[in-house]
Amino acid sequence: MLKKKSSKKTSNKEDLKEYYLMVKPILLHPEFLKRKEIKHHNGSVYDHCLQVSLCGYHIAKKLKPYFPELSIQDVAIAGLLHDFYSTPWRESRLDKRFFRKHGFTHAYEASKNAYTHFPDLMDPYVEDAITHHMFPLNRKFPKYIESWIVTTADKIISMDIVFDLNELPRYLGINIPKKNE
Ligand SMILES: [Fe+2]
Ligand SMILES: [Fe+2]
Repeated sequence: MLKKKSSKKTSNKEDLKEYYLMVKPILLHPEFLKRKEIKHHNGSVYDHCLQVSLCGYHIAKKLKPYFPELSIQDVAIAGLLHDFYSTPWRESRLDKRFFRKHGFTHAYEASKNAYTHFPDLMDPYVEDAITHHMFPLNRKFPKYIESWIVTTADKIISMDIVFDLNELPRYLGINIPKKNE
């Protein structure tokens, strides 16, 4: 007798397909692929952004029935581009003033890069989600539900660092080189 296909597995596959179609132009773009070479927390910027984007996508799918205006695609795009900065800050030994450090500035750099390389995918919702993803560090409240989802997904994915006082400076982008780095 044929086994019934698990509907959960099928919906996961369909979700992944839907997700991929939403963000394909970013995932295949040479400028975005360069983020595989930039170290971020315990992996690359590329890996981190993909995780945040997928996490945000799943949260948005769950919330969509309660917030019909919510754009799942904007969440997926902003998740991928939220850390689309160019400067590998962990290698930088520049002594910048506190509020010029990576944690306070990279969201704006990411938004600027996103407009340069993906102007057709940008809108005010994606821009707000990218520029406010470091909330409360940026001291301005995210305006839209898409932004709240991206900042939450970023913290979920960075959980081990956000809640570890020794590692917290790394999440905030404050470069404290370790002896073996
Ligand atoms: Fe960030
Ligand atoms: Fe991030």
